[in-house]
Amino acid sequence: MNIVVVGTGYVGLVAGACLAKIGHQATCVDIDEEKIKNLKEGKIPIYEPGLSEVVKKEVASKRLSFSTSLKDVLDQAEVVFVAVGTPMRRDGKADLQYVEAVAKEIGQNIKDYKVIVNKSTVPVGTGKEVTDIIAKYYKGSFDVVSNPEFLREGSAVEDFMKPDRIVIGAGSNKARDVMLEVYEPLDYKKITVSIESAEMIKYASNAFLATKISFINEVANICDIVDADVEDVARGMGLDNRIGPKFLKAGIGYGGSCFPKDVNALNQIAGTSGYDFKLLKAVIEVNIKQRLLVIDKLEELLDQIKDQPICVLGLAFKANTDDIRESAAVDIIRTLTGLGANISTYDPEAAEQAKEIMNGGVKFFDDPYEATKDAKALVVATEWPEFKKLDYKKVASLMANPKILIDGRNILEPEEMRKLGFKYVGVGRGKL
Ligand code: UGA
Repeated sequence: MNIVVVGTGYVGLVAGACLAKIGHQATCVDIDEEKIKNLKEGKIPIYEPGLSEVVKKEVASKRLSFSTSLKDVLDQAEVVFVAVGTPMRRDGKADLQYVEAVAKEIGQNIKDYKVIVNKSTVPVGTGKEVTDIIAKYYKGSFDVVSNPEFLREGSAVEDFMKPDRIVIGAGSNKARDVMLEVYEPLDYKKITVSIESAEMIKYASNAFLATKISFINEVANICDIVDADVEDVARGMGLDNRIGPKFLKAGIGYGGSCFPKDVNALNQIAGTSGYDFKLLKAVIEVNIKQRLLVIDKLEELLDQIKDQPICVLGLAFKANTDDIRESAAVDIIRTLTGLGANISTYDPEAAEQAKEIMNGGVKFFDDPYEATKDAKALVVATEWPEFKKLDYKKVASLMANPKILIDGRNILEPEEMRKLGFKYVGVGRGKL
């Protein structure tokens, strides 16, 4: 099928490349000329394992191409995926200006029946809104469909190719059948529901996963008081099939471009619908508090933060990505520099992004050991596998007393670290 994907962020680029990989003719469109020029030369703007290979292969096979003009490529498309950003507004609501602009452009240029697919995460009711915008300019027949994405950064290609489920929210049988044809090559569970239900599935899924994280973080904080180990507790809980082991990793809280935005947006959707979603409010509050616990622990153990050399390993919001949006690591660094700490930091992929937004008080290193040199405290803020494998004997010898090690992601063995001379503090690993 001929498919146009508007927006070349994580979602759009992965979707476009993978739709080509499963046999479609895909064109990715973005108004950013520099980005499209780079993509045409095989330069991928993000760090996403496996994506570069797929893009290069599909460009070479001529199934994937790029354009800066939606108008130029719209005619040829049977299906148009809209995968532009829906950033969080100050009031927590999703900002729909980019989705609306694309809808308008489609309305002004569409000439025959097409299925318009909302891939961006949008509030319930946006499908209808997009339909209204297009219908304002175009009187012919078309359908708007909601097809939320469940890709995780760092494993987005695999998540697209091997999804747990494909959700299709369609208002007509014709549109539903077109979508089933698009995904026909992927032999995974597909569910077809109303547009509103599909939009809700996306928010409810992310909000539930965020709830699991905030829940285990609360359990972790109690574990610290009663001297239990949250890692053992999570293992014991996760073995219950009804609970499952995933998303029970305690730490400094969730970040990224999705969970904080979507949890807030669902809370807003509830609010504007006149419903008080109490649980979600608590999930948000716990997540904010969880980041601050690191600061509290450092204050307690160092007496004061001002002028103290502190190393933070990790800047990305999670491992295997260079994304620092809503990163707990970045938040912690900002708070520490605000309190006058001298921060040294290292991240295998995200340093360049972080340099652009940090102002003063932070030294970036290309080597993790160099970053830990002379630090009195070390905070592991991202769960990069590389940080698990560091030579901590060497790290201990490089650091200055009192060699505090705050394992914000519980990736290290407390006893081993204590034997090496660290004052180890995990999240929910028992009393200090
Ligand atoms: C998330 C969802 O997992 C995807 O299904 C969804 O498609 C995506 O949002 C989206 O809406 O676009 P992502 O933001 O890439 O994907 O990251 P996750 O792997 O879900 O992690 C989110 C955050 O939670 C990270 O900061 C991670 O460190 C944290 N986390 C995750 C925990 O603290 N504990 C856990 O047990 C799991």
